[in-house]
Amino acid sequence: MARYLVTGGAGYVGSHTVLALVQRGDEVVVIDDLRQGHRGAVAPGAELVVADVADRRQVAEVFAAWRFDAVFHFAALSLVAESMAQPLRYITENLSNTLTLAEAAVQAGCLRFVLSSTAALFGYPDSELMHEGSRLDPVSAYGESKLMAERGLDWADRVHGLRSASLRYFNAAGADPGGRLGEDHNPETHLIPLAIDAALGLGPALTVFGTDYDTPDGTCIRDYVHVTDLVDAHLRVLDVLGQGRSARYNVGNGNGYSVRQVIDEVSRVCGRPVPFRTGPRRPGDPPVLVASNALLREETGWRPRHSSLSEIVRTAWEWRVAHPRGYRGG
Ligand SMILES: NC(=O)c1ccc[n+]([C@@H]2O[C@H](COP(=O)([O-])OP(=O)(O)OC[C@H]3O[C@@H](n4cnc5c(N)ncnc54)[C@H](O)[C@@H]3O)[C@@H](O)[C@H]2O)c1
Repeated sequence: MARYLVTGGAGYVGSHTVLALVQRGDEVVVIDDLRQGHRGAVAPGAELVVADVADRRQVAEVFAAWRFDAVFHFAALSLVAESMAQPLRYITENLSNTLTLAEAAVQAGCLRFVLSSTAALFGYPDSELMHEGSRLDPVSAYGESKLMAERGLDWADRVHGLRSASLRYFNAAGADPGGRLGEDHNPETHLIPLAIDAALGLGPALTVFGTDYDTPDGTCIRDYVHVTDLVDAHLRVLDVLGQGRSARYNVGNGNGYSVRQVIDEVSRVCGRPVPFRTGPRRPGDPPVLVASNALLREETGWRPRHSSLSEIVRTAWEWRVAHPRGYRGG
């Protein structure tokens, strides 16, 4: 049995990771200040410490109370549009919280660290598929903050031997196939939950930003990775860190779906139309953003097992229908 510290473990991807760790018999301590997360999303058996990762004293107390085998760092500001209104806050907070945590981990002798990074650090793609070596040129302060966090971790590796895996998620989507957890953000900015809410009448009509892109149906194409597959990547990279090396991986399906295809699939799964209107393109939205996941497959044996759009949408839909008020509904 191992013990892990999970920041942001009451949030969407973090809570699914906590559940997987608890289920395989590991001990888990979560730090989350619940600004976006939910107490009810933390799997029974995990310890929840309600605290801000920026609070060095509380973080030090957690490291003093428990010895950890690794840290998973999910807690972050992560709204791209908000980051363009508050770039300094995003860069300061995401960078300094990562480094505060890394420093505390080093001091406690915990030398394995997994960072939730993002495809947003690539900016405009320089090829059809984004590889780990693709040009890093973020077009948002959010992407920049994660790139800086990755670089900070490089220094912690060089100087202190802190081995880290930066997982560059594409679009996390779907929900626990067992129906125990789902996606509940406020505000929600992700396409699939917004389309489901529009179909259910729980939210406004969807806005499709741009229908004149150079793609087969004119809408943007993105890579959606099922949250359960994303969690599996987190568990697998622990072995890489155990080999004494740091790594960076793109975590995506390797397939793209257009906004239009997502809307059609949501309508099909829900059995009702998704009300939508079209709007102008959003600045900074590239037409196509799809991951090459070859490196992750090759080095960890990872395979996406829930990759079909229908499974992604179905699991998200089932959770939402059972929890129309999200975690607030119990
Ligand atoms: N969801 C995606 O598609 C996606 C894509 C790329 C990268 N990411 C990254 O993955 C991570 C998790 O994303 P998510 O969608 O699960 O986000 P989320 O907002 O659902 O979860 C983040 C959690 O961290 C907590 N938190 C935030 N700042 C904190 C702080 N300073 N101290 C304590 N707790 C704090 C929030 O309360 C929340 O529970 C984030 O770092 C995000 O940038 C997510």
